[in-house]
Amino acid sequence: LDELIADGVTGRCVLVRSDLNVPLDGFAVTDDGRVRASLPVIERLAHAGARVIVMAHLGRPKGQVDPKYSIAPAGQRLADLAGVPVRIATDVVGQDARDKAAALADGEVLVLENVRFDPRETSKDDAERGALADELVALTGENGAYVDDAFGAVHRKHASVYDIALRLPAYQGDLVKRELDVLTKVVQDPERPFVVVMGGSKVSDKLAVIANLIGKADSLLIGGGMVFTFLAAQGHRVGGSLLEEDQIETVKGYLEQAAEAGTEIVLPVDVVYAKAFAADAPHETRPVEDIVGGEIGASGLGLDIGPASAALFAERIRAARTVFWNGPMGVFEMDAFAAGTQAVAEAIVASDAMSVIGGGDSASAVRNLGFRDDQFGHISTGGGASLEFIEGKELPGVVALGA
Ligand code: 3PG
Repeated sequence: LDELIADGVTGRCVLVRSDLNVPLDGFAVTDDGRVRASLPVIERLAHAGARVIVMAHLGRPKGQVDPKYSIAPAGQRLADLAGVPVRIATDVVGQDARDKAAALADGEVLVLENVRFDPRETSKDDAERGALADELVALTGENGAYVDDAFGAVHRKHASVYDIALRLPAYQGDLVKRELDVLTKVVQDPERPFVVVMGGSKVSDKLAVIANLIGKADSLLIGGGMVFTFLAAQGHRVGGSLLEEDQIETVKGYLEQAAEAGTEIVLPVDVVYAKAFAADAPHETRPVEDIVGGEIGASGLGLDIGPASAALFAERIRAARTVFWNGPMGVFEMDAFAAGTQAVAEAIVASDAMSVIGGGDSASAVRNLGFRDDQFGHISTGGGASLEFIEGKELPGVVALGA
């Protein structure tokens, strides 16, 4: 980005791909972290005299206009926070976007409607995505440029992330650069002990990451719904808890490989069991050994790690020099099942380790539990993107910038 700005951007139209995919409650933004993280590059370009057009997605609207996925609430938040004028278009590459783009003055910003309202954005067909990219490029008039600052979307081969970078002079935004720098250090050269905390509901989403961390991490602490597939792989019965039976054999293999590679896999020793998946469901804490015993254990659902597990995890985190955390420990949205996630966040805040929180959901979880961003080393704006980076996968958005 320094290079683009040094070349002079006054009067030039710069398309910026940002990640404004914020959680909403109706039309209210419940965590504006991604908007705030996107602001610096947008403002930097506008202050340098560029006409900035922001492209972003919100949710997964299935390639059609769907008002509940309008970018407007996120765009409005951007407008409220920005120190430069921001307008919002009501379409992606339609008449309104074209008119407003043509009317942009130097130093002004236009946010396009959710790019995923156009089915070509996410198409598997190169020509279809290319056609949308051409129309986006046309909004810039002559001498346009492209900046990718949407770290959360770099793992998507989408028109506004990938194809457009092949059509305009393309630059890495400051946020993408910072994210890649931090994650590269964590994966390639972590200060040890390197402790990874993995949570979330589905083990199948995290398998590749876990596989890639075996031999790299010193300890892998497992929480969240995927715990039960691990416990099942160790021979425990898990009642009505989340279980991915088809993953049990794979997980058994990981437990063996980890033991050989010197990566300690730490599983919860107790679990908060509830009678139902409900905020007010009766619940109790049980050691994992007697999950099948008792009324709740037999039929119940494990919805959080218990206090003994939280203390065990906190002990590992205290000793760490680097911590990477992805995924909540329990159903933190319900107060009764938030204690495990809260305890892990507190342990990370109290430790001197370099800490990286990976994932849109994990970031929202810690903010909604009352923690501040500056209490952690780095809160990644990318969920899937940070995991795919750690898996060692090629990220199309990054590849395209180098193309
Ligand atoms: C995210 O929320 O991780 C990013 O904004 C990407 O969204 P997606 O998973 O819908 O592509």
